Amino acid sequence: MKKEVWPWKTIIEPFKIKAVEPLGFTTRQEREHLLEQAHYNLFNIKAEKVLIDMLTDSGTGAMSCEQWAGIMKGDESYAGARSYYNFEMAVKDLTGLEEIIPVHQGRAAEKILFTALGAKGKYVISNSHFDTTRANVEASGAIAMDFPQEGALDFDKPAPFKGNADVKAMEKFIKEKGEKNVVMCVMTVTNNSLGGQPVSMENLREVKKLCDKYAIPLFIDCARFAENAYFIKLREKGYSDTPVEEIAKEMFEMADGAMMSSKKDALVNIGGFLAMNDKTLSLKCRQLLILTEGFNTYGGLAGRDLEAIAIGLKEVLDENYLQYRIRSSQYLGEALLKKGIPIVNPPGGHGVYINAKKFLPHIKPTQFPGQALACALYLEGGIRTVEIGTLMFGKRDSKGSFLPAPMELVRMAMPRRVYTQSHIDYVIEVIYSLAKNKKKIKGLSIVEAPLVLSHFTAKLKPL
Ligand code: F0G
Repeated sequence: MKKEVWPWKTIIEPFKIKAVEPLGFTTRQEREHLLEQAHYNLFNIKAEKVLIDMLTDSGTGAMSCEQWAGIMKGDESYAGARSYYNFEMAVKDLTGLEEIIPVHQGRAAEKILFTALGAKGKYVISNSHFDTTRANVEASGAIAMDFPQEGALDFDKPAPFKGNADVKAMEKFIKEKGEKNVVMCVMTVTNNSLGGQPVSMENLREVKKLCDKYAIPLFIDCARFAENAYFIKLREKGYSDTPVEEIAKEMFEMADGAMMSSKKDALVNIGGFLAMNDKTLSLKCRQLLILTEGFNTYGGLAGRDLEAIAIGLKEVLDENYLQYRIRSSQYLGEALLKKGIPIVNPPGGHGVYINAKKFLPHIKPTQFPGQALACALYLEGGIRTVEIGTLMFGKRDSKGSFLPAPMELVRMAMPRRVYTQSHIDYVIEVIYSLAKNKKKIKGLSIVEAPLVLSHFTAKLKPL
């Protein structure tokens, strides 16, 4: 039977709330002081001093009552726990992959996979590597290359699948370097580094064809697979009547392997997995797993975590949930566009990215407009976001000074099932108010910043 499409204009939160947690109210004066104490780095602010926390959608979601019940039923046996088999079955059923390896979060899967590949000096190609993925590829001695589709960096111009890979550019690169030197292709769905934009089924299929032609394994970084599948349903020809679960399974049919941060679309606070068909590679991965994460049937997680993931992987494919989820970021994005606030258009699946370069043209990239905006949002309304710009991605010159990154974005990530529409209305009101006085926002300068992953611990001061 075909599911009835929601006939109303108002999309509602498809849940009611059973447990609540107070928000962290502060005064502007307190926030001024807190920012100074935190050296203008929002990672240093205590969460209880944040009113609306949009720093990340990773591990910050609310679990369902089913998942909490699963937590109580979790089997904590070291080997062969029932919860592991529930987890394994859920991942197998979704991905169709054979070898299922639990890990404590996404980057552990990356670390194990790229260490096991041992492809020093060789290339990994992608639509866009997420920053930890790139860091783990590079830590293994391999080289990470991004091939986003043309126009992906044109933030103003909407397109349905701006997360796609540029398949022609990938093929040109493979021919140039020789297929033996390209050891893996990673498709990140949705594409987090470029605005949470989805990848189309057509693009996945073309990438798969390319990979088959040159015998390159295709892995999916599937942290946000369900959001991607729902975008395919909404936007790609031929899928509007297909259940999202089927779409997700079709995406995974293209994959030789997958790595997942379960902290996103498995609706849990911690966890991840690595999955593949290649038995030889999986054996190497399992050896590293036992060395660094734990035994095959728990991989750095508690049995209860595995149980919650197994349940979350099914819940996330509920189309009422996905309709609310995608509509939430659209709602925020549309409100900002209405007042001419520049964002990555269209809004992404897991959040809205403000284009700080365009919003604050009076601040030079070397004065960190993204970070300045993130601090201003906290000062104005206690909203915590994250800079994706020169502080996060800027390369350094020989003196350690930052060179401008290609983009200056501020990501407003949406935790799953946490905030309601009035919270988002509040966020919109704060941004509107900030926009009126944006010329007063000042750039920042570095006090100190380590050379690696500097955004987490850098200290800054206002100019
Ligand atoms: N891949 C993608 C696409 C991600 O977005 C993340 C994490 C990871 C891998 C790594 O997973 O955090 O579980 O180790 N993204 C978070 C974020 C941190 O805020 O976007 P992890």
